[in-house]
Amino acid sequence: MNHRGVKGTQDIFTPEVEVWRFIESTASRVFENFGFQEIRVPIIEHTDVFTRSIGETTDIVEKEMYTFQDKGGRSITLRPEGTAPVVRAFVQHSLYAKRPINKFYYTGPMFRYERPQAGRYRQFQQIGVEAFGSDDPRLDAEMLLMLKLLLEKLGLKDLDCQVNSIGCPECRPGYMDVVRAYFHDLYGELCSECQRRFEINPLRIMDCKAPKCRELRVGAPSVLDYLDNDCSRHFNALTGMLQALEVPYTVNPNLIRGLDYYTRTTFEVIASGLGAQNAVAAGGRYDGLVAEFGGPEKTPALGFAIGVERMVSLIKETYKHRRRPALFIAALSKEAEKMALILSGRLRGKGVWTEISYDSASLKSQMRRADKLNAEYVLIIGEEELKRGSAPLRNMNTKEQVDLWLDKVVEQFT
Ligand code: HAM
Repeated sequence: MNHRGVKGTQDIFTPEVEVWRFIESTASRVFENFGFQEIRVPIIEHTDVFTRSIGETTDIVEKEMYTFQDKGGRSITLRPEGTAPVVRAFVQHSLYAKRPINKFYYTGPMFRYERPQAGRYRQFQQIGVEAFGSDDPRLDAEMLLMLKLLLEKLGLKDLDCQVNSIGCPECRPGYMDVVRAYFHDLYGELCSECQRRFEINPLRIMDCKAPKCRELRVGAPSVLDYLDNDCSRHFNALTGMLQALEVPYTVNPNLIRGLDYYTRTTFEVIASGLGAQNAVAAGGRYDGLVAEFGGPEKTPALGFAIGVERMVSLIKETYKHRRRPALFIAALSKEAEKMALILSGRLRGKGVWTEISYDSASLKSQMRRADKLNAEYVLIIGEEELKRGSAPLRNMNTKEQVDLWLDKVVEQFT
């Protein structure tokens, strides 16, 4: 039997789990202040929820999905991302009919069969948001402000927020032709992926990571010069608002993104110190997706997702807020062990994190354990203390010791 975890998955232990929880709770607080509500959608969906939205010719759909047939012969996929399931739920339950603007956030595992490396896993966690019902650039600006505030609250500064607009189904085909014309004579020098993209989606050549393709696109026409009037106005309004809101950004006309549903705004937050997998959050508009799922024709929407593992690796060194046990009770006899069990039960019942020893070890080894657990106080109970009805309580930081009545222990800590 193979007892190792599946390649590309991780086991997460304390204290790292605390960093995860810190990120998740901070995110939900920030999102709720902006009017977002939590939504929980399934981890499995019918495969076409993803193929039709993310796009048949994207890396995710072509190579990375965990797809299987269930016992009823249905094609089921472990979600590779959260946007498509949220849109599916939004349409299925006619949530658009309840309010004009709907804002959701979610967190959970996503699955992509990618080549694992630092910051890239086959099961990874995203925290995402999706907002439906307006194409006003204020919603885009507000979302980027929300992301900036969250990153600040998590202790991150100096991140690069890159923004772009990739136009809409009206103006994008024109730009695709221009890109094809530009790369026509360079075709033989493109990487094999981009040669394929040349036909199906030449825009993706613009954000290919291969050094040669990067080199070849220097001097290529910018998508921003081919936006139609509405898209152009939308993008200019957005950048103006970002300035007014003091959200730092850089315009990156090569930011196309690897999912086909995007229209107009795309963005990515890049962090140095993450190596090749340096996008810690990414998203954009998808004004046509709700209609593709059978929802009302004009339901513009946008969102982003944060990669939690990448976020954890950025903040775990500086994260300080570690919880520690308030009390360790060292017991030096059978009767004392019983007392320790009773006291710890009462304290835990009152919400006080209390630790005891389970192996009748020496005082020295129990003190070592308390130290390792980083307990704030240690109460030392032996036969003598039981007779007296009081026991020494040691402050593990200052090493000061006071005597505490055993029947006052719970009061002392609550
Ligand atoms: P995405 O760019 O595919 O967008 O993923 C968003 C973030 O998830 C990435 O920036 C990265 O931090 C993290 N991520 C992606 N793949 C992996 C992986 N294999 N291992 C670790 N982290 C990873 C989306 O998923 C869109 N649904 C975002 C969105 C929401 N757009 C609109 N609404």
